[in-house]
Amino acid sequence: MFREASLYFSLFLITLIVHKSLSGFELTNVKCTSLDESFASFEYCYLKSVNRTYKYGSLRVKLHKGPIYKVKLNLAIYQRLNGYKPFLYNVTVDGCKFILNQKSSPVTAFIFNLFAPYSNMNHSCPFDHDLVVEKVPYSYINDQLTNVLPFPKSSYAFCSDWYADGIKRASVNAYATLT
Ligand SMILES: *[C@@H]1O[C@H](CO)[C@@H](O)[C@H](O)[C@H]1NC(C)=O
Ligand SMILES: *[C@@H]1O[C@H](CO)[C@@H](O)[C@H](O)[C@H]1NC(C)=O
Ligand SMILES: *[C@@H]1O[C@H](CO)[C@@H](O)[C@H](O)[C@H]1NC(C)=O
Repeated sequence: MFREASLYFSLFLITLIVHKSLSGFELTNVKCTSLDESFASFEYCYLKSVNRTYKYGSLRVKLHKGPIYKVKLNLAIYQRLNGYKPFLYNVTVDGCKFILNQKSSPVTAFIFNLFAPYSNMNHSCPFDHDLVVEKVPYSYINDQLTNVLPFPKSSYAFCSDWYADGIKRASVNAYATLT
């Protein structure tokens, strides 16, 4: 908790230093990788640009060996400077505990909130159904990033590794720019 508090404080300072007028958030790429297709496979994972103002991302994971009672997540944010460098956050959480007490990890809650309202994942363990994130608009993510916790203009990678029963099963990485 202390570590996270100090990370928040760093981010707060950055917010003060960096000008807040962020005009655009764009997801530039999303990569979904299953490390064990017999356990879980991605039915789809894509970004779509409907028009200049409406763009979204969607993904669907099929679970072949549910129900899952133990979920571990590693979330890390990278900023592209000269290659991708770790940017403030690198947290590992017990997904089943987190979902019951989302205040227990503010960093995880922040990342979870970037897509949770558009997903079917916000419920207690176990998970025994396809996991879906359906049409999360860039404008929604932009609001979360810039209003909730302003980020400096740059390119970022949001990387997540998903573990079930202690084994790494999948990773989802999203690449974005704030301009
Ligand atoms: C973009 O597409 C959405 C959904 O189809 C529509 O509601 C909106 O009016 C469109 N915006 C523009 C600028 O065409
Ligand atoms: C994040 O932490 C994990 C576990 O401590 C470590 O294996 C990984 O290399 C770290 N990633 C970054 C970007 O620092
Ligand atoms: C998740 O569900 C809890 C309890 O139903 C709710 O309070 C919370 O706002 C939800 N979070 C999101 C990001 O949808």
